[in-house]
Amino acid sequence: MNFFALTLFPELFDAFWAHGIIRQALLKKKITQSTLNIRDFAKGRHRTADDKPYGGGCGMVMKPEPLAGAIRAAKKMAPDSPTILLTPQGRLFTQRLARELSVYDGLILVCGRYEGVDERIRTDLTDHEVSIGDYILTGGELPAMIVIEAVARTLPGVLGGSDSTAKDSFSDGLLEHAHYTRPEVFEGEAVPEVLLSGHHKEIEKWRQETSLIRTFLKRPDLLKDRPLSTLERQMLKKWRSEIDKIIYA
Ligand code: ADE
Repeated sequence: MNFFALTLFPELFDAFWAHGIIRQALLKKKITQSTLNIRDFAKGRHRTADDKPYGGGCGMVMKPEPLAGAIRAAKKMAPDSPTILLTPQGRLFTQRLARELSVYDGLILVCGRYEGVDERIRTDLTDHEVSIGDYILTGGELPAMIVIEAVARTLPGVLGGSDSTAKDSFSDGLLEHAHYTRPEVFEGEAVPEVLLSGHHKEIEKWRQETSLIRTFLKRPDLLKDRPLSTLERQMLKKWRSEIDKIIYA
């Protein structure tokens, strides 16, 4: 998959491309990256990329011409890639959206700065608007990196194990189970015995159960629209009867 990051601060991406899973994915040619400096598409001696808002008000707005130039240059390289504007007004980014975006050959990510981009860029030159959460950041660069990383992780061959993402939190609509490593006892607290048993079926069942229960406790909203399997229903009933025992003791 080909990622295009369009930004006024391309150096912010340097460390991102150079480390970890993303670096490995680039080396393995599972992904490619082009970081375009929007200022390179600005005209004039000062290469101005922002201007005062019409109608007055504080802050600056990103001018349409440099943005249009950068988007069109990326489109030329990757005509089938959708253009995504990172903005707090966009669709909330989730694992589901990461999977939806992973079907494309590439993504053109437009990182806004200042008060935002000229409205005509939003309406005429972008296909999707994406927000990473209900808070305001200084620019779209961190959101773009988050989108790139989450999408790249879903691509075949990017992570080590073949089912590494299948077991991640959210992939099956649940939070991931608890993890333990050595030592067996840490500050008086022991690793659950079942994990030391070598009994793979029991371990799998325990993981499914902790996954379900911690989702119920931490993020009950995730269970609302998700159908339960027969086994999950049984697990919840077992917990209900345990809770009843405490209540009615
Ligand atoms: N730009 C500024 N804040 C943002 C957010 N929460 N999501 C995406 N882009 C942004």
